[in-house]
Amino acid sequence: MAEIRIRNTGERISGEENVKAFLDKQAVLYEHWDATKLPSHLHNKFVLTDEEKNEILTAFNTEIINLAGRRGYRTWDVIALSDATPNIDELLAKFEQVHTHSEDEVRAIAAGQGIFVIKGSEEVGYFDVELEAGDLISVPERIPHFFTLMDSRQIVAIRLFIETEGWIATPYDDPDFVVA
Ligand SMILES: [Fe+2]
Repeated sequence: MAEIRIRNTGERISGEENVKAFLDKQAVLYEHWDATKLPSHLHNKFVLTDEEKNEILTAFNTEIINLAGRRGYRTWDVIALSDATPNIDELLAKFEQVHTHSEDEVRAIAAGQGIFVIKGSEEVGYFDVELEAGDLISVPERIPHFFTLMDSRQIVAIRLFIETEGWIATPYDDPDFVVA
Protein backbone atom coordinates (compact mmCIF):
# COMPACT_ATOMS: atom_id res chain seq x y z
CA MET A 1 0.00 0.00 0.00
CA ALA A 2 1.24 3.49 -0.78
CA GLU A 3 2.65 5.75 1.95
CA ILE A 4 3.04 9.51 1.97
CA ARG A 5 5.92 11.52 3.42
CA ILE A 6 5.46 15.27 3.71
CA ARG A 7 8.89 16.74 3.13
CA ASN A 8 8.54 19.93 5.19
CA THR A 9 7.44 18.19 8.37
CA GLY A 10 8.58 14.58 7.97
CA GLU A 11 4.99 13.51 8.71
CA ARG A 12 4.06 10.12 7.29
CA ILE A 13 0.58 9.05 6.23
CA SER A 14 -0.22 5.36 5.84
CA GLY A 15 -3.28 3.16 5.46
CA GLU A 16 -5.25 3.07 2.22
CA GLU A 17 -8.08 5.34 3.40
CA ASN A 18 -5.75 8.00 4.84
CA VAL A 19 -3.50 7.96 1.78
CA LYS A 20 -6.47 8.20 -0.55
CA ALA A 21 -8.04 11.05 1.45
CA PHE A 22 -4.77 13.01 1.44
CA LEU A 23 -4.20 12.47 -2.29
CA ASP A 24 -7.84 13.32 -3.10
CA LYS A 25 -7.31 16.72 -1.47
CA GLN A 26 -4.25 17.24 -3.66
CA ALA A 27 -6.23 16.21 -6.78
CA VAL A 28 -3.99 13.16 -7.24
CA LEU A 29 -5.84 10.00 -8.31
CA TYR A 30 -4.97 6.94 -6.21
CA GLU A 31 -6.39 3.46 -6.64
CA HIS A 32 -5.26 -0.02 -5.72
CA TRP A 33 -5.23 -2.99 -8.08
CA ASP A 34 -4.95 -6.65 -7.10
CA ALA A 35 -1.20 -7.20 -7.47
CA THR A 36 -1.62 -10.97 -7.16
CA LYS A 37 -2.99 -10.93 -10.73
CA LEU A 38 0.62 -10.63 -11.88
CA PRO A 39 1.75 -14.11 -13.03
CA SER A 40 3.99 -15.52 -10.29
CA HIS A 41 6.99 -16.00 -12.60
CA LEU A 42 7.04 -12.21 -13.11
CA HIS A 43 6.86 -11.17 -9.44
CA ASN A 44 10.57 -10.65 -9.18
CA LYS A 45 11.60 -10.06 -12.78
CA PHE A 46 12.83 -6.61 -13.76
CA VAL A 47 14.24 -7.33 -17.20
CA LEU A 48 11.32 -8.18 -19.45
CA THR A 49 10.87 -9.46 -22.98
CA ASP A 50 8.12 -7.96 -25.15
CA GLU A 51 6.19 -11.18 -24.60
CA GLU A 52 6.41 -10.78 -20.82
CA LYS A 53 5.32 -7.14 -21.06
CA ASN A 54 2.27 -8.26 -23.03
CA GLU A 55 1.60 -10.91 -20.41
CA ILE A 56 1.47 -8.13 -17.77
CA LEU A 57 -0.92 -6.02 -19.87
CA THR A 58 -3.13 -9.09 -20.34
CA ALA A 59 -3.12 -9.86 -16.61
CA PHE A 60 -4.42 -6.36 -15.82
CA ASN A 61 -6.53 -5.94 -18.95
CA THR A 62 -9.82 -5.52 -17.07
CA GLU A 63 -8.39 -2.75 -14.85
CA ILE A 64 -6.69 -1.02 -17.80
CA ILE A 65 -9.83 -1.01 -19.97
CA ASN A 66 -11.90 0.23 -17.04
CA LEU A 67 -9.49 3.07 -16.24
CA ALA A 68 -9.05 4.01 -19.90
CA GLY A 69 -12.83 4.14 -20.31
CA ARG A 70 -13.20 6.44 -17.31
CA ARG A 71 -10.30 8.76 -18.09
CA GLY A 72 -9.76 8.70 -21.82
CA TYR A 73 -6.42 6.89 -22.11
CA ARG A 74 -5.87 5.49 -25.57
CA THR A 75 -2.56 3.71 -25.38
CA TRP A 76 -0.53 1.90 -22.70
CA ASP A 77 2.75 0.06 -22.26
CA VAL A 78 5.02 -1.48 -19.63
CA ILE A 79 8.28 -0.02 -18.38
CA ALA A 80 10.86 -1.96 -16.37
CA LEU A 81 13.78 -0.30 -14.56
CA SER A 82 16.52 -1.84 -12.44
CA ASP A 83 20.28 -1.89 -12.08
CA ALA A 84 20.25 -4.09 -15.18
CA THR A 85 18.82 -1.19 -17.25
CA PRO A 86 21.58 0.30 -19.42
CA ASN A 87 22.53 3.82 -18.21
CA ILE A 88 20.24 3.55 -15.19
CA ASP A 89 22.17 6.21 -13.24
CA GLU A 90 21.98 8.67 -16.14
CA LEU A 91 18.29 7.94 -16.53
CA LEU A 92 17.61 8.51 -12.84
CA ALA A 93 19.57 11.75 -12.85
CA LYS A 94 17.34 12.90 -15.71
CA PHE A 95 14.16 11.71 -13.96
CA GLU A 96 15.00 13.43 -10.69
CA GLN A 97 14.31 16.93 -11.97
CA VAL A 98 11.07 18.68 -11.16
CA HIS A 99 8.94 19.04 -14.29
CA THR A 100 5.38 19.23 -15.58
CA HIS A 101 3.42 17.72 -18.47
CA SER A 102 0.45 18.90 -20.50
CA GLU A 103 -1.33 15.63 -19.67
CA ASP A 104 -1.55 13.62 -16.48
CA GLU A 105 1.11 11.02 -15.65
CA VAL A 106 -0.36 7.64 -14.80
CA ARG A 107 1.52 4.69 -13.37
CA ALA A 108 0.22 1.37 -12.10
CA ILE A 109 2.95 -0.52 -10.26
CA ALA A 110 3.07 -4.20 -11.23
CA ALA A 111 6.21 -5.12 -9.25
CA GLY A 112 8.92 -3.43 -7.20
CA GLN A 113 8.68 0.08 -5.73
CA GLY A 114 8.94 3.71 -6.78
CA ILE A 115 8.39 7.23 -5.51
CA PHE A 116 6.56 10.16 -6.99
CA VAL A 117 7.67 13.48 -5.52
CA ILE A 118 4.82 15.93 -6.05
CA LYS A 119 4.30 19.62 -5.32
CA GLY A 120 1.19 19.87 -3.16
CA SER A 121 -0.88 22.82 -2.08
CA GLU A 122 0.88 25.83 -0.55
CA GLU A 123 0.42 24.65 3.04
CA VAL A 124 1.61 21.10 2.27
CA GLY A 125 4.54 21.72 -0.08
CA TYR A 126 6.37 18.83 -1.67
CA PHE A 127 5.44 15.31 -0.62
CA ASP A 128 6.64 11.83 -1.56
CA VAL A 129 4.26 9.05 -2.53
CA GLU A 130 5.99 5.73 -1.99
CA LEU A 131 4.38 3.15 -4.24
CA GLU A 132 4.44 -0.62 -4.33
CA ALA A 133 2.87 -3.38 -6.40
CA GLY A 134 -0.85 -2.78 -6.93
CA ASP A 135 -0.69 1.00 -6.41
CA LEU A 136 -1.97 3.24 -9.18
CA ILE A 137 -1.37 6.97 -9.23
CA SER A 138 -2.13 9.79 -11.63
CA VAL A 139 -0.28 13.08 -11.20
CA PRO A 140 -2.50 15.79 -12.68
CA GLU A 141 -1.44 17.79 -15.71
CA ARG A 142 0.70 20.87 -14.97
CA ILE A 143 1.52 19.76 -11.39
CA PRO A 144 5.29 19.86 -10.72
CA HIS A 145 6.67 16.40 -9.86
CA PHE A 146 9.28 13.79 -10.60
CA PHE A 147 9.60 10.04 -10.30
CA THR A 148 12.45 7.99 -8.91
CA LEU A 149 13.25 4.53 -7.61
CA MET A 150 13.44 3.47 -3.97
CA ASP A 151 16.39 1.69 -2.35
CA SER A 152 15.48 -1.59 -4.03
CA ARG A 153 16.09 0.18 -7.37
CA GLN A 154 13.65 -1.99 -9.25
CA ILE A 155 10.21 -1.43 -10.68
CA VAL A 156 7.79 -2.63 -13.33
CA ALA A 157 4.99 -0.18 -14.11
CA ILE A 158 2.15 0.14 -16.58
CA ARG A 159 1.94 3.60 -18.19
CA LEU A 160 -1.22 4.94 -19.80
CA PHE A 161 -1.38 7.87 -22.19
CA ILE A 162 -3.93 9.98 -23.97
CA GLU A 163 -1.37 11.04 -26.60
CA THR A 164 2.13 9.55 -26.45
CA GLU A 165 3.49 12.38 -28.59
CA GLY A 166 2.06 15.03 -26.26
CA TRP A 167 3.76 13.58 -23.21
CA ILE A 168 6.79 15.82 -22.98
CA ALA A 169 8.49 16.94 -19.75
CA THR A 170 8.72 20.69 -19.28
CA PRO A 171 11.40 21.57 -16.70
CA TYR A 172 10.07 23.40 -13.65
CA ASP A 173 12.77 25.33 -11.87
CA ASP A 174 11.44 25.67 -8.35
CA PRO A 175 13.35 27.46 -5.56
CA ASP A 176 10.92 25.83 -3.10
CA PHE A 177 12.16 22.35 -3.98
CA VAL A 178 14.84 21.01 -1.65
CA VAL A 179 16.56 17.70 -2.43
CA ALA A 180 16.13 15.52 0.67
FE1 LIG B 1 6.68 13.28 -15.22
